Amino acid sequence: MLKNHELKSDTPVIYFDNAATSFPKPRSVIDGVVDYITNVGGNPGRSGHRLAVEAGQIVFNARQMVADLAGVANPMHVIFCANATEAINLAILGSYKPGDHVITSSMEHNSTIRPLKHLEIEQKISLSIARCSTQGLLDPEKIKLLIKPETRMVVLNHASNVTGTVQPLRDIGFFCRQRSITFIVDAAQSFGIIPLNMKADGIDLLAFSGHKGLYGPTGTGGLVLADDFYAARLRPLKFGGTGSASDKTEQPAFLPDRFESGTQNVAGLSGLSAGIAHVIAQPDGIEGIYRHKKELTACFLRRATNEIEGFTGCVPSAMIETGVVSFNLEGLDPSHVVQQLDERWSIMSRAGLHCAPLAHATIGTFPRGAIRFSFGIFNTSNEVDTAIEALKTIRGEAP
Ligand SMILES: Cc1ncc(COP(=O)(O)O)c(C=O)c1O
Repeated sequence: MLKNHELKSDTPVIYFDNAATSFPKPRSVIDGVVDYITNVGGNPGRSGHRLAVEAGQIVFNARQMVADLAGVANPMHVIFCANATEAINLAILGSYKPGDHVITSSMEHNSTIRPLKHLEIEQKISLSIARCSTQGLLDPEKIKLLIKPETRMVVLNHASNVTGTVQPLRDIGFFCRQRSITFIVDAAQSFGIIPLNMKADGIDLLAFSGHKGLYGPTGTGGLVLADDFYAARLRPLKFGGTGSASDKTEQPAFLPDRFESGTQNVAGLSGLSAGIAHVIAQPDGIEGIYRHKKELTACFLRRATNEIEGFTGCVPSAMIETGVVSFNLEGLDPSHVVQQLDERWSIMSRAGLHCAPLAHATIGTFPRGAIRFSFGIFNTSNEVDTAIEALKTIRGEAP
């Protein structure tokens, strides 16, 4: 296990912001990035020399590992993007047709809400937002009630970045499949954290971040197309050089080149493969990581509820699946608490609305938001204990 990065002061950093991006990265991820830059350096698919071929193998390896994790057989159905946001934009903007009706939920991140709202404002689509419970859960019946003859897309996140709760994908996926509705899932907070299988869950398009639960570098993420998703149903949002079909002035129709114009983030993808390998190699793999985060969540919420006056957790411990814990201290501004935690205890966390205003409105914490701790594989129960003591001190100092 890596130790947390040390500040220039003597205080070791406690990093509780893994939902934004995971940190630290495993040593093997750093080595993967450095290895490509130092020893390979070629541009995949652009030249025939061996360094270009090796770079192509690095990208293919990452593609294969993502495909395996998503449960798709064809690695060419993995489209690399800069992050989950770009992938969600490709899924939504690339597949809507004018006049479509789209359903989403009130727990979505702005990465989903904003492209949908953009289309609604431009009068390209009509939009329905299914209201979730105050604990962030979506009742599949609510989706069913919103269906219209022109409903073509359902867009949902798998796990919330505010509550750490997980939506019942399989029920909704099955329902969408029966009606030929495209089911788009934002797995930014779940890929590598909660097992999923695109086929079994009925997912057509899956957007993921490489830099969160997969421990890859920032600048990695992508969109996975189900094996039976016909690529022509999705329009590319960017066009240009792919290294393939260079005699043609039109964009290639085949995958992944249809969607991957421009030089790839090979350094990042080299690190991403190492990150995925690291996750898989944990004792009990993703299951083991899941248990570790559950334990930290339960330990934090148990102690905080019992020991810190005015502590309110947004969601009960048993419902939190991804190590994401949002809470408030009565009478204290979340930004003040987070700043104190950083400056005095080197605890890195996030305050506010977490790019998810509708989610906070759903759980009753809009507009002030909440303090969010998000645990990762390197966090320990000792760090949770430090955070409890820090919060008790901040609370005790409050007027
Ligand atoms: C639920 C959810 N969706 C999408 C995103 C966007 O991910 P990325 O930073 O990879 O674009 C985030 C980021 O925090 C998120 O939490």
